[in-house]
Amino acid sequence: MRIFQVNGAGGPVVAAERPVPTPAAGEVLVRVKASSLNARDLLIATGKYTAAVPPGRVPLSDGAGIVEAVGDGVSRFRVGDRVMSTFHPTWLYGSFPQWGELYGVQRDGWLTEFIAVGEQSVVGVPEHLSFEEAATLPCAALTAWSAVSGVGPGDALLVQGTGGVSVFALQFARLAGARVLATTSRPEKARRLRELGASDVVDYLGTPEWGAEVRALTGGRGVDLVVEIGGAGTISQSIAAVAYGGRISLVGNLASGGGMDLTRFFERGATLRTITVGSRSDFERMNRVISQARLRPVVDRVFSFDETPDAFSWFAEGTRFGKVVIAH
Ligand SMILES: NC(=O)c1ccc[n+]([C@@H]2O[C@H](COP(=O)([O-])OP(=O)(O)OC[C@H]3O[C@@H](n4cnc5c(N)ncnc54)[C@H](OP(=O)(O)O)[C@@H]3O)[C@@H](O)[C@H]2O)c1
Repeated sequence: MRIFQVNGAGGPVVAAERPVPTPAAGEVLVRVKASSLNARDLLIATGKYTAAVPPGRVPLSDGAGIVEAVGDGVSRFRVGDRVMSTFHPTWLYGSFPQWGELYGVQRDGWLTEFIAVGEQSVVGVPEHLSFEEAATLPCAALTAWSAVSGVGPGDALLVQGTGGVSVFALQFARLAGARVLATTSRPEKARRLRELGASDVVDYLGTPEWGAEVRALTGGRGVDLVVEIGGAGTISQSIAAVAYGGRISLVGNLASGGGMDLTRFFERGATLRTITVGSRSDFERMNRVISQARLRPVVDRVFSFDETPDAFSWFAEGTRFGKVVIAH
């Protein structure tokens, strides 16, 4: 079977051949039909990830496909079922236990034609979604779902930029009846954010003090929740934007900067909560909501398996809106 692997020297992923695995007891063999890229995959492929990645590792946490064969004792799935990966293969339910083995780092990921994984580590695909759409859910969608949990009608929420997590957060928050304000660096993306239901869009490059702008747009009250993807480079503006007693869901650290002024944060009486994607049970609940609402992920572009290096280049470029997918 064909795979792509990291070359260990920070260069592009490279194609290679491996034998098709045989599912062990309790495992399913999945014929992967689509995968998707997340910010961490770019870091893994370019040798900038926080943990060591051995040369030859197959990247990507997110994939969807068909169960091709099952090992002894498998009862959750049958041959022909449509399944998706889970980001944390061993976090099934409850609060975050600890970091376990992750795809693309300690174990081979989904940038492959076939993968054998424990039956507990995959979930069913919502019926209305294609494989390309389903492959966007395991990391970005579940992270967004966890980040916006608890918001509802009457709440105002801020999402930053137009990457995978932020666009899903916008969709879920709108579904929950909340008002959503958004930032972006690109005026052409503002229209698309509004089409998805953003009430207001602020240009964070043209308005460096965008936190005050967001506050003004909410009548001086501030937003109840910020989905923080910029981290050190944006948190001070997020604190300016958040309402007294509001929440900041700390998801990412995409933007370099000075970090947090603790005094100002303290003055807000706000809560900072870190997000680590979510458990399998969170994923299954999210999928029920996606099915009921017939929500469709925003797919920016689909690349063929052969075009995988181009998919990584496109992901790095920054003009995309939503998710970048590879069709296997
Ligand atoms: N904690 C978790 O569980 C978890 C899970 C998934 C991802 N993450 C992290 O969350 C972050 C986002 O992930 P992703 O996959 O959605 O990334 P992504 O798709 O790469 O997001 C890229 C977008 O982020 C926006 N952006 C970049 N710098 C920004 C800034 N200073 N202010 C506002 N927006 C900015 C840009 O939007 P515009 O082009 O519109 O300006 C850019 O297009 C990453 O740091 C990732 O590692 C964490």
